[in-house]
Amino acid sequence: MADSEVLLRWRNDPLTRQNSHSTAVVDEATHKAWLANSLSTPNRVIFIGEAEGIPVGTVRCDWSEGLVGYLSWTVAPEWRGQGYGTELVRGIIAAFTDREFRAEIKAKNIPSLVIARRTGMCQIGQRDGVTFWQYTSHSHEKRERRNINSRHIPGRLRAFEMKTNEPKCT
Ligand SMILES: CC(C)(COP(=O)(O)OP(=O)(O)OC[C@H]1O[C@@H](n2cnc3c(N)ncnc32)[C@H](O)[C@@H]1OP(=O)(O)O)[C@@H](O)C(=O)NCCC(=O)NCCS
Repeated sequence: MADSEVLLRWRNDPLTRQNSHSTAVVDEATHKAWLANSLSTPNRVIFIGEAEGIPVGTVRCDWSEGLVGYLSWTVAPEWRGQGYGTELVRGIIAAFTDREFRAEIKAKNIPSLVIARRTGMCQIGQRDGVTFWQYTSHSHEKRERRNINSRHIPGRLRAFEMKTNEPKCT
């Protein structure tokens, strides 16, 4: 519960609310109850990322049936745009090599779409302005293979990106 205050501050940041499913401001009592419940829920893990001891962001992971992790991430407003979002998500994925991950990202949330692509996720759907992403080690391998090919043929990469808005991973 020591991180309650900073988590609430990040949660109520206007951009975080805009990009969340629930956009309302959360009051302290509601937040504390949510956090206490989260910490006692075995399937939920809340990671806090630190840079030189300073908290810079958080990733929440809800494990479904123990194998699929549903991720949600936030970087502290004052630390955005420095690669921490990518690092945090990449770090969680790397820590659980045999797992699958999913994320729901609003289509207008460009930095998060960039993070999803960079960390090897594939878009698997889109509905009502929300995009759905999945990470499996298999899709990651495919992405890596394509990147290696593309690196040698930059023209092909550009053509690929022009033809497809979202990576076709499957
Ligand atoms: C989304 C969020 C986590 C990103 O964190 P961050 O630490 O700023 O992200 P990163 O710096 O790792 O990467 C973002 C990338 O997106 C790029 N980006 C941002 N806006 C962009 C745009 N309009 N077009 C293209 N790229 C864009 C950035 O340039 C950066 O790439 P770079 O490293 O090449 O410069 C942060 O903005 C945040 O906390 N937002 C509010 C909460 C939120 O949206 N959570 C996600 C819910 S799914």
